[in-house]
Amino acid sequence: MKQRIERLREVLAHHNHKYYVENAPEIGDEQFDRMMRELADLEAAHPEWDDPSSPTRRVGSDLSGGFVTVAHGRPMLSLANTYSMEEVAGFSARVEKEVGEGVEYVCELKFDGTAISLNYENGVLVRAVTRGDGVAGDDVTANVRTIHSVPLRLVGSGWPASFDIRGEILMPFAAFERLNAEREAAGEPPFANPRNAAAGSLKLQSPALVARRGLATFLYSVAGEELSFATHSESLRAAREWGFRVSEHSRVCRSIEGIRTYIAKIDTLRAGLPYATDGVVIKVDSYALQRRLGATAKSPRWAVAYKFAAESAATRLVNVEFSVGRTGAITPVANLEPVQLAGTTVKRASMHNADQIAMLDVKIGDMVYVEKGGEIIPKITGVDLSVRPPGSVPLEFPAVCPACGTALVRDEGEARHFCPNAAGCPPQIVGRIAHFVSRRAMDIEGLGEETIALLVAEGLLMTPADLYTLRAEQLAPLPRLGDKSAENIVAGVAASLKVPFSRILYALGIRMVGETTAKYLAAHFRSLDALAAASAEELAQIEEVGNKVGEAISEYFTDPQNRALVERLRAAGVNLLAETKTAVSDTLDGKHIVISGSFATHSRDDLKAMVEAHGGRNQSAVATNTDYLLAGEKIGPAKLTKARKLAIPIISEDEFMEMIGDVKNSTASEKNDNNSRQGKLF
Ligand code: IVH
Repeated sequence: MKQRIERLREVLAHHNHKYYVENAPEIGDEQFDRMMRELADLEAAHPEWDDPSSPTRRVGSDLSGGFVTVAHGRPMLSLANTYSMEEVAGFSARVEKEVGEGVEYVCELKFDGTAISLNYENGVLVRAVTRGDGVAGDDVTANVRTIHSVPLRLVGSGWPASFDIRGEILMPFAAFERLNAEREAAGEPPFANPRNAAAGSLKLQSPALVARRGLATFLYSVAGEELSFATHSESLRAAREWGFRVSEHSRVCRSIEGIRTYIAKIDTLRAGLPYATDGVVIKVDSYALQRRLGATAKSPRWAVAYKFAAESAATRLVNVEFSVGRTGAITPVANLEPVQLAGTTVKRASMHNADQIAMLDVKIGDMVYVEKGGEIIPKITGVDLSVRPPGSVPLEFPAVCPACGTALVRDEGEARHFCPNAAGCPPQIVGRIAHFVSRRAMDIEGLGEETIALLVAEGLLMTPADLYTLRAEQLAPLPRLGDKSAENIVAGVAASLKVPFSRILYALGIRMVGETTAKYLAAHFRSLDALAAASAEELAQIEEVGNKVGEAISEYFTDPQNRALVERLRAAGVNLLAETKTAVSDTLDGKHIVISGSFATHSRDDLKAMVEAHGGRNQSAVATNTDYLLAGEKIGPAKLTKARKLAIPIISEDEFMEMIGDVKNSTASEKNDNNSRQGKLF
């Protein structure tokens, strides 16, 4: 059995590499998933053969709390930057003056992500640390383990017993766009660019969440005492053979002309890359020469970064609109005279918030510079003051909502202004209903924003619950509708009664509850009533939820208007319960059970499914009505103390299995399969 486990680990690690690093899978997803499941099952049955670098561990699950700061073995320096080719020529001239002519350089992509240092001991990933201040960084090992292109265990041979390898963690554009779409749908501010998104993801408190962010890596620097290589390029080649993802765009160049040609080539190539790059890094290839050249306190003398200027264009600012989102957030959007920028025509640009406007000191009619850096949406980066028309007036952020006139609020520490008139502000009402009917929520066709706005203006719609009382006769006479559309809308509304609970939860538009969080909440609480009854504290303890989401949920259910909405939806027949699973027994009928810690034989999700299958209810925090605390290893001391104080029986996994008669758990748990390789990274 042990041999089978080891064999599966080896084979799966090989296919992982083929898939995520080489982009050349040799087997189909199904076959891969089957092997992964077999390994997971065997590992669950044989905890004694546990291995933290098993491919099954790609899915983080334990909350890691705050990060521990770790000193770097060797400081993580930065690079001297330049935007000018002359300065690159100056760099190479200085190098050659110091060490003589005929120097070979490695030219590489400059990845626009966040730096990471990985430490391997005997071929096993033991630690991943962020750059931090260059001297010490945050230990983000649990999060980095979830990134598929980071090998947990090296392949091949010849690596030093202990070494560090450094590189960049990136969020590919596709993953970035998906993430931002999800965030906007959940009413959260989007990330400005893939770099921020990658850095932010790396600092999440839940590795399981990180696993879903689609992060990628490129490694570009090997460091260790016992390296047997003479050059940087050799070490990169070896790193690739050990299983690291190393860019195929690196080249050895032997002259400044070669460097120039490389830079020109990359300048065109980068537009087609699926991840962000912002320049080229030029490094002296020979380690001996690198040592001779040394470093300043901040950066090595043997390397320089040539950065591509962010593409920018000048155009006139026609006016600024302040749009109101469904959460009431006010976003200034600049209307511009159309201008060509990086291959597209730009007519609008984002100005983010009031601070940004004040900082730019921008006025209507100004010639402004728009830039498309790592950002997807162009932004205004400056004003050409030399051509400012006389008598122009500064642009002020409005004090009241442009849609409903209510005084705007800005909470302490918040960059954005909000309109607090959630119930009466038309764009918020329209936005909420549009979100409610959207495809991934209730999927009601025929109701675009324009039609919704019309129905709101006609007084037919105020909240999503009003949809369920609409009659075709009311709709048909309205402009652009007619009998057919009216009937379709009414039929679509009726069909939405069958939409599963998790999508309704998403449709409600609770702040910070996106599609995925809604699915977790639905699976955990199984009914809207149970969710509404949970305290912020209880919510915060759920993996995948956390403090902020917990607060947003309890805030939502404290509002009497939201409670009224829920009651009206219930009365209309909307589905507020998760699908019932067939119970295996009623042994635990009505018993409240808290499961905490990690277990030898079953995953926590499986145990939770068993509790439900036997008629019990899962609880996330120990309370006076808790019947049992099912305690695993590494259980938090607070839970134990509280259970002891309340004299709640503390049971082990074995005792629990005995309690339920060890009936083989026959309900398939709704565990989401993070191991399945959905979607290619590139
Ligand atoms: S080498 C001592 N190579 O740029 C030199 N850095 O400004 C260490 N970066 O912190 C860095 N692509 O995050 C190197 N091919 C590349 C790079 C690269 C991106 C980043 C890295 C570093 C920053 C330095």
